[in-house]
Amino acid sequence: MRIDVVTIFPDYLAPLELSLAGKARERGLIDIQVHDLRGWTRDKHHSVDDTPYGGGAGMVMKPEPWGEAFDALLDDDGATVVFTTPSGQPFTQAVARELASRERIVFACGRYEGIDQRVIDEVSTRAEVREISLGDYVLNGGEVAALAITEAVVRLVPGFMGNAASLEEESHTLSDSGGSLLEYPVFTKPATWRDRQVPPVLLSGDHAAIAAWRRDQAVRRTAERRPDLAHGSVLLDGIEVRAAEPADAGELYVLQLACWVAEQHDNPGVRIPALHETYDDLRAWLARDTVLVARSAGRLVGAVRASLDGEAWEVGRLMVAPDLAGRGLGRALLERIEALAPATATTYALFTGAGSLRNQRIYKKAGYRLRGEIAPGVVRMTKRIGPR
Ligand code: 6GU
Repeated sequence: MRIDVVTIFPDYLAPLELSLAGKARERGLIDIQVHDLRGWTRDKHHSVDDTPYGGGAGMVMKPEPWGEAFDALLDDDGATVVFTTPSGQPFTQAVARELASRERIVFACGRYEGIDQRVIDEVSTRAEVREISLGDYVLNGGEVAALAITEAVVRLVPGFMGNAASLEEESHTLSDSGGSLLEYPVFTKPATWRDRQVPPVLLSGDHAAIAAWRRDQAVRRTAERRPDLAHGSVLLDGIEVRAAEPADAGELYVLQLACWVAEQHDNPGVRIPALHETYDDLRAWLARDTVLVARSAGRLVGAVRASLDGEAWEVGRLMVAPDLAGRGLGRALLERIEALAPATATTYALFTGAGSLRNQRIYKKAGYRLRGEIAPGVVRMTKRIGPR
C-alpha cells in the first residue's frame, strides 16, 4: 500500500514516517510519503488560504495548490483520496476495513474553514473521493485525523499484524448478530492484586465457560456504553431483540405491571412478585441478570430475564405486550434467552402460576415439564439442556 499525506504541517505527520511506517516499510508492505502543500504554491508568500466568497469568518484553502498537488500525486492507478474534514462521514472500523483494501491512499488535510469545494469536485472526476471525519468535535486541522485513520488502516493490511486472531476478536468487529461488540474486560497475572481477584471463570480452564463469560461481558458493556452499536437482531417480522440496557427500565416496569395484572386474574390470591416490586427493584435485577428486550418500531413489546443458580439457568419475567400475544413472540424470546445459558448450566428452569394454563401450555410445547407446586399456587417447570 502506498500512502501520501498532503498538509501544511508535515512535521505533524512525522510519527507516521518514524514508528508505524518503519515497521511496515521493513517488511515492504507500506510506503508512506508526507508532502508540504506549500511546495505546490507559486507566489512568493506561499499562500494557501484566502477569504471566503460570500463573506463570513475564517479562511478557505485556495484551489490552485491543491490542484497542483493532485496533478503531481494522482496517476491512473485508481487512488482513493481522503479529505479529512469535520463535515465528513464518521470514521468507523468498517471504513478502516474498506480503506485497508486500497492500493493507494492520498490524504488531503484540510485546515481553516475547509478547502474550496471545486477541489473536491474536480478530484472526484479522477479518483475515488472520501470525506471523512474523526468524530463529532472540531480539531484545528485534519492532520490528527489522517494520523488516526492511517494507524487504524495500516494494522488491517494483511501481513502487518503478527497475530490475525487478535484482529478478529477486538472491539468493533461484527458479531454474528450483525451488530458489533465492544471487547470484554481482560486480566493478566497476578491472580490477586491489591485484594482484587481475577474472575474465577478465567482460571477454570473451561474454555466453553470462558467464551460464554466473555461474550456476556461484551454484550453487557456494549448495551451499557454503546447501545447504538448493539444492533438488535430480528426476532420476528418487524420485531428486534437485543440485550436490555439501563435506559429500558422505565418502559420495562410499565410493561411488566400490565402483563402481570392479567396474571393476577388467572391466579387469585397468589402473591406475584412482579406486581409488588418497586422500580428500584427492577433496576437492580436489570443490572444483575441477563435480560433481553424486544422492540417493534421502537416500542418495547416484550422481555425476558435469566440468571444462573447452581446448574440451573433460571428464566423469568417472560412478558409480551397484550396486543401482540399469540404470534410466537414469547416462544421466540424463550429460545433466545435459553441460547444465552452459560456452558455450565444443565437445566432451564422457571416458575409460573398454577392457574396460568396458557403459559404452561407454551412452556410444555417448548419442552418444559411440570415439577410440582413449590408454593401455594406456584408451579416449577424445568427442561434438561441437551449437549451443545
Ligand atoms: Cl477530519 N478535521 C477537523 N478539522 N476536525 C475534526 C475532524 C477532522 N474530525 C473530527 N473533527
